[in-house]
Amino acid sequence: MLSIIFNPSFHLFMQFMKVVDETLRLVTFSLMVFREAKTDVNMGDYIIPKGWKVLTWFRSVHFDSETYPNPRQFNPSRWDNFTPKAGSFLPFGAGSRLCPGNDLAKLEIMIFLHHFLLNYQLERLNPESKVSYLPHTRPADNCLARIKKLQPRPVLNKEENWKM
Ligand code: HEM
Repeated sequence: MLSIIFNPSFHLFMQFMKVVDETLRLVTFSLMVFREAKTDVNMGDYIIPKGWKVLTWFRSVHFDSETYPNPRQFNPSRWDNFTPKAGSFLPFGAGSRLCPGNDLAKLEIMIFLHHFLLNYQLERLNPESKVSYLPHTRPADNCLARIKKLQPRPVLNKEENWKM
């Protein structure tokens, strides 16, 4: 176990996870979920009566500046030594309907990023484009970009790979 933790690849993996979590937070692909109150629920000064439908708006949770200072900024470092408290990071929902594909989804994002970063260069055509927030956080120009394939890198042996 210790050899995994002190392995440089593990450190790189943890850094990668921060980029993925920050992307999930900022973009919030799933905007919201619906729930129904099964009993009267007291929430602070409010009562949600039994039978009412509740719309949970995830972006407000992910953009709460008390949990995420300067929330509109993409900042993977905010995840350094930071574990959000229950209910404040909900890219995959919560409770009994939590997305069962969450680990697979993160793995897919990481595999995509790995190959994309190693093999391609993306140059945005309008780097100053405004950001729009509905339905998702994204550049208003839909991220128009020129994508260039890079020269293939030489294949390294296992030890050389770990030094990178
Ligand atoms: C970035 C990718 C994904 C995001 C952001 C996402 C997000 C969500 C969210 C927010 C829910 C609703 C949870 C709730 O009601 O509390 C959900 C449900 C679900 N997701 Fe995902 N999901 C993703 C990828 C996947 C993948 C890859 C699979 C399957 C391979 C998957 C399968 C499901 C299923 C079956 C449900 C319904 C669960 C239920 O109602 O019990 N999702 N997802």
